[in-house]
Amino acid sequence: MNNIKHSNPDRNFALELVRVTESAALASGRFMGRNEKNNSDLAAVEAMRLMLNTIEMTGTVIIGEGEKDDAPMLFNGEVVGTGSMPPIDIAVDPIDGTSLLALGRANALSTVAASESGTMFNPGPFVYMNKIAVGPDAKHSIDIEAPPKTNLQNIARAKGCNIEDLTVIILDRPRHKELIAELRKTRARIRLITDGDVAGAIMTAWPESGVDVLMGIGGTPEGVLSACALKCMGGEIQGKLWPRNEDEKSLGSKMGYDLNAVLQMEDLVSSDDCFFAATGITDGELLKGVSYFGDGAKTHSLVMRSKSGTVREVVSKHRVEKLIRISQIIDN
Ligand code: FBP
Repeated sequence: MNNIKHSNPDRNFALELVRVTESAALASGRFMGRNEKNNSDLAAVEAMRLMLNTIEMTGTVIIGEGEKDDAPMLFNGEVVGTGSMPPIDIAVDPIDGTSLLALGRANALSTVAASESGTMFNPGPFVYMNKIAVGPDAKHSIDIEAPPKTNLQNIARAKGCNIEDLTVIILDRPRHKELIAELRKTRARIRLITDGDVAGAIMTAWPESGVDVLMGIGGTPEGVLSACALKCMGGEIQGKLWPRNEDEKSLGSKMGYDLNAVLQMEDLVSSDDCFFAATGITDGELLKGVSYFGDGAKTHSLVMRSKSGTVREVVSKHRVEKLIRISQIIDN
């Protein structure tokens, strides 16, 4: 113990970021089941921007969201915060699972991550990434280039169980037809989700969720956010850029992206001090969604930091009549 280098506790941005995701969840949770994707996104984005701008930093949005489906967004390169030191990289997904929220389905959440300036992967034109993610007990046992069966064998060995005991979470998409067929042959248990692979990635590091590994192609913003969360939780994610078409491929190559490169967690977020917060919008295995009552609302969030490895669960009660005087975020 004597040769451990100690440093003094310092600012934990995640404790400030949770106000950002709470605000986005409070503002967008009102839209549950109303099938108004763009309005819910707009509410979340505006609430998120309002709160990000209260944080003492010069934050640059490296990972914005919305390009995929022309939704309202915090755009890439947007500068947020008060404009003071320190410079910070920011990744946002005001609603991961806009369709889940629109239909009142489980696991829609609001997420944001932060790390030292220059340490977050910028996915450029790439909207999608192939991913494999596991929790701490299976760290170092995955290889995105290996066949699914090999990965499952190695994960099962690391966890001291059989492949049949493992649960793989995967987005239910036609592009995963072959992967799902291969997984079925291994007799692993499979959970097909309609949306929300940030929640899926975090669940691999959340034993109560019963999920062991996330596989398949999802959004690149979600990949970087998941990397920040899993770095805090001691898990692992690997990714490979997945161009949608030849134009994206040649643009990416011209910009210097290597499509064969395996993106390790260190490539996705290289800082040893990154921060992550998520707040549930609809109820899920990971987080309770926002509940509203006469004079207030309740939120449930995860707040984490990689340097300390502390993962906090934060349950907050918000008072409408007070908040309404200081912000628009919890309006009826
Ligand atoms: P949004 O709600 O932000 O649009 O993302 C939902 C989501 O399911 C992500 O979790 C996932 O990474 C991505 O969409 C997959 O993209 P697609 O729906 O185009 O397959």
